[in-house]
Amino acid sequence: MVVVAILAAGRGTRMKSQLPKVLHSLGGRSLVERVINSVEPLSPSRRLVIVGYQAEEVKTAMQSIPGLEFVEQTVQQGTGHAIQQLLPHLEDYAGDLIVLNGDVPLLSTQTLKILWQTHQEHQNAATILTAYLPNPQGYGRVFCDSENIVQQIVEDKDCTTAQRQNRRINAGVYCFRWQNLAKVLPYLEANNSQKEYYLTDAVTQVGQVMAVDVEDYQEILGINDRLQLANAYEILQRRVKEKWMMAGVTLIDPSSITIDDTVELQPDVIIEPQTHLRGDTVIKAGSHIGPGSLIEDSQLEENVTVQYSVVKGSIVQAGTQIGPYTHLRSQVQVGAGCRVGNFVELKNTRLGDRTNVAHLSYLGDTTAGTKVNIGAGTITANYDGVKKHPTKIGDRTKTGSNSVLVAPVTLGNDVYVAAGSTVTEDVPDDALVIARARQVVKPGWRKKSAE
Ligand code: UD1
Ligand code: CA
Repeated sequence: MVVVAILAAGRGTRMKSQLPKVLHSLGGRSLVERVINSVEPLSPSRRLVIVGYQAEEVKTAMQSIPGLEFVEQTVQQGTGHAIQQLLPHLEDYAGDLIVLNGDVPLLSTQTLKILWQTHQEHQNAATILTAYLPNPQGYGRVFCDSENIVQQIVEDKDCTTAQRQNRRINAGVYCFRWQNLAKVLPYLEANNSQKEYYLTDAVTQVGQVMAVDVEDYQEILGINDRLQLANAYEILQRRVKEKWMMAGVTLIDPSSITIDDTVELQPDVIIEPQTHLRGDTVIKAGSHIGPGSLIEDSQLEENVTVQYSVVKGSIVQAGTQIGPYTHLRSQVQVGAGCRVGNFVELKNTRLGDRTNVAHLSYLGDTTAGTKVNIGAGTITANYDGVKKHPTKIGDRTKTGSNSVLVAPVTLGNDVYVAAGSTVTEDVPDDALVIARARQVVKPGWRKKSAE
């Protein structure tokens, strides 16, 4: 049985931010959310998050994650002091405790499994994750004997020049036999350069402590400032892009593309330069996205093309062409084999199969049937200044250029709207509607008026 504690009370001074450090976003998810996700597959029986600095903001931001318990550390006196706050919450607990820093977001589940397994196999009192870093500056240094038994952990700030040469660092990821840790926690002292209670001091007092090296040191990089945040983002992006390329996705100029790790892609998807895929997006086989597009929280079926466009919160069926310069704003459903083209904005709108909105249109709160043709410059006037109103357009209906459909209004099937019409009343099936002043031509008018 394992309980997980996540350290998220620190202020993150080096971020120089109004936002608590652990809430900073890394590719669409906060640092602390990533940490929680990494440990989830171990099915911990309890997940305790230690909060302190801006505790309310942190709790609110994490509300949607079920089953978290928050423990308050009202003054932040160090990582050891943070873990001391768990004592009243784990009084009779006899299992293992995994402790994770809330600012180490790239950790893999596999690494945590190895840590826990080693801990159990060797019946250690504690097992800690270590790594050899090319640049260990800022991290605690770990000193072991030849059997990987930890002798000492010294914080960077407390190291002698000789100790600082050690490149083996403490990742801030630990597995404790809780009962052993609980016994030493009350006796921690803060006699160090930062006047803090260090969890690392407790580590070496609990009994046999073993170090396990992480295979890829990039996993354990901590985020303390914006530069490290950007570096972590690069690592994450490289991982995500490699994964999709190996799975059969073509990325043209990968360095100019960004893909959240929540996105799902299918083989033979082609992503062109300067394209960004975010959130809960799914793009199916044969689709060709970009250049220059943003797709967020959207589902694109097979063989969809999108060029220089923004697609958010929308579903696009197979074989449809979007763009260039289209904005699907939110809650848009476009049918199969449609064309939505240049300078078109759609919002809360549903288009049936093989319907075209090819040029210069705005459709809001609109439902259009199949094989509809929305002429260039057709606009729905869906807002009267107080409420939004719906527009319904039947199958095979065609609107002429520069029509205004004043909602609420319904056009039946096979309707023709004359160019330049302002339609304010419903139109039945098969009708032609002309809603504009008849053209008047006055021959010789200029000559007369000029006299
Ligand atoms: C810590 C370790 C160091 C390790 C490094 C790995 C200690 C003393 N040092 O140093 O050995 O190499 O992590 O990244 O543990 N926090 C609290 N309450 C506090 C202080 C901190 O909850 O009172 C939280 C922070 O929010 C953060 C985590 O603990 O998530 C680590 O704190 P931080 O100050 O970043 O520790 P480091 O100096 O990086
Ligand atoms: Ca840190």
